[in-house]
Amino acid sequence: MTEPLLEVDDIRLSFKGVRAIDGVSFHVDEGELFAIIGPNGAGKTSIFNTINQVYVPQEGDIRWRGESLMGKRPDHIATLGIARTFQNIELFPHMTVLDNLMLGRHTQMSAGWFAGGLWLGRAKKEELENRSKVEDIIDFLEIESWRKYPVALLPYGIQKRVELGRALAMEPKLLLLDEPVAGMNLEETEDMARFILDIREELGIAMLLVEHDMGLVMDIADRVMVLDFGQKIAEGPPAQVQRNPEVIKAYLGEDFGVVAAGDDETLEASATE
Ligand SMILES: Nc1ncnc2c1ncn2[C@@H]1O[C@H](COP(=O)(O)OP(=O)(O)O)[C@@H](O)[C@H]1O
Ligand SMILES: [Mg+2]
Repeated sequence: MTEPLLEVDDIRLSFKGVRAIDGVSFHVDEGELFAIIGPNGAGKTSIFNTINQVYVPQEGDIRWRGESLMGKRPDHIATLGIARTFQNIELFPHMTVLDNLMLGRHTQMSAGWFAGGLWLGRAKKEELENRSKVEDIIDFLEIESWRKYPVALLPYGIQKRVELGRALAMEPKLLLLDEPVAGMNLEETEDMARFILDIREELGIAMLLVEHDMGLVMDIADRVMVLDFGQKIAEGPPAQVQRNPEVIKAYLGEDFGVVAAGDDETLEASATE
């Protein structure tokens, strides 16, 4: 068996006594679309923040291709091939789509070329390569018509797509998507789902997808982990997880899009007959 891309090994993270992550383990394979779902406050975003070491867990280990990420700097982790989008959009609103994507590219520029002496020639060549890569991403995400607009003027769904583009510009091996369809209407959600699937199929990039809502995840994920109060309560293929009694129990009363809600209706219908 090949080594997993990312391994999270029994991590624990507390904030002044509040247990945000309480002994969670999972792994993501090369090219896999792995989803983490759970209600607000379950610890989903905290897991992302421990992967890029914005938060350092008090216990446990996180390994990237077998090597521990613990104590490494977030910007260094990004250069290893782990890119992310945020629950709240973090773009430069007054800069154009093109410039925001070019910035994503620059975090990936080879460190140390400046010291190499030949920097002018190399800088020019790199800039051309960056530009061409960014144009490819613009085509891929179908945002050609927006490329010269300041991000602040774009519809919300397109802004989220630009944010995805900026993460792709880093040419990651693993993409962390934090609630990529939050606040989107149905059409925007379907578009985003299509792009996420295309990223896996056409670019072969593994993804760790965090979602509050189960609906999207059940359609597109290879495997799903369910978190509740910082603990893993289930993990497996979507069809299996959505039938798990513990999962159903955890989300009873939540509008969580569990397929089992259909079963409840059937039960109610037969009960009233
Ligand atoms: N920087 C922080 N300081 C204090 N508590 C935090 C911080 N970040 C997250 N938490 C707490 O950790 C828990 C998990 O939060 P979070 O990971 O944001 O959950 P989710 O993304 O699943 O909604 C919550 O109780 C939250 O209040
Ligand atoms: Mg969150």
